[in-house]
Amino acid sequence: HGDSGSYKDLPVPTVVGHRGASGYRPEHTLGSYQFALDNGADVIEQDLVPTKDGHLVCRHENDITGTTDVASRPEFASRKTTKTVDGEAHTGWFTEDFTLAELRTLRAKERIPGTRGHNTLYDGRWQVPTFEEVLKWADEQGRKRGRRVWLHIETKHPTYFRKAGLGLEERLAKLLRRYGRSGRNSHTFLQSFEPSSLQRLNRLGVDCPKVLLLDDLTTRPWDFTEAKDPRTVADLITPKGLKWISGFAQGIGPWLNLIIPRDKNDRLTKPTTLVRDSHAAGLIVHPYTMRNENSFLPADFRRGTDPNAYGDVFGAFKTYFATGIDGIFSD
Ligand code: G3P
Ligand code: CA
Repeated sequence: HGDSGSYKDLPVPTVVGHRGASGYRPEHTLGSYQFALDNGADVIEQDLVPTKDGHLVCRHENDITGTTDVASRPEFASRKTTKTVDGEAHTGWFTEDFTLAELRTLRAKERIPGTRGHNTLYDGRWQVPTFEEVLKWADEQGRKRGRRVWLHIETKHPTYFRKAGLGLEERLAKLLRRYGRSGRNSHTFLQSFEPSSLQRLNRLGVDCPKVLLLDDLTTRPWDFTEAKDPRTVADLITPKGLKWISGFAQGIGPWLNLIIPRDKNDRLTKPTTLVRDSHAAGLIVHPYTMRNENSFLPADFRRGTDPNAYGDVFGAFKTYFATGIDGIFSD
């Protein structure tokens, strides 16, 4: 395939290394990103959250209790707290309560050691990466390979952080410009569950293709630009909702079950019309998340009776690819 930096040049279906290669290395570490790239992912995913002093770092959540060694660090014991983030209560330690210098003293570890015991071999090996560090890593890898590395970057809880005075988009726009990734053809996707985050990036002149994530929630707690904007996933996945999305994004990132629903026995049923309707609205479709652990995979793809046995993830890929999706987030 070509390499103009346009998403239209990517192989289809595009494999997006979710949190790097989080099935094989602790998520959102340079080791995880490197493993994904070395093993054939077309695009590498980052989730962004801020530090107290406004630096963007790569973590799936601002709650870093499970993905770092913070709980075993006596000097940070008093930072433990309870917060409600987008309607969900969390008790632990949060990136926005640490300066970057403090955060960099922590070491990353596996989030689900019971499921991914093999990843604990790498506990303590890497720091929490800054987004800028990842941009530099991607440039260096691109130079080595003679082909620029594609990134798929998510703004996490953007309204929550804006209200806390730590708006993500301005900082993100600045870094993307600095590293030549703010253009339409700059090997970069941007994604968010919040339409207003993607709309804000558009207003800031960031032209990268944008992907609106869609989950299984029926109500959405964050800010909307206009009172008439669709509020529920059910509204967003109608042809009218998809047309609205196409006004500010080039794609959607739906939960897998919105593509193929499961019945009460967890078996796959018939695909919905979402892929076809999205394509009719000019939107590409990058669903999430394909994982080979049994607990995350539809029953159809589980194999054997060992609860830790890998399922038939390749069969799962084929089934989803047959629906016409353009790409997939995979661990
Ligand atoms: O960004 C795609 C997928 O990562 C969305 O779900 O919760 O894993 O960030 P989540
Ligand atoms: Ca994500």
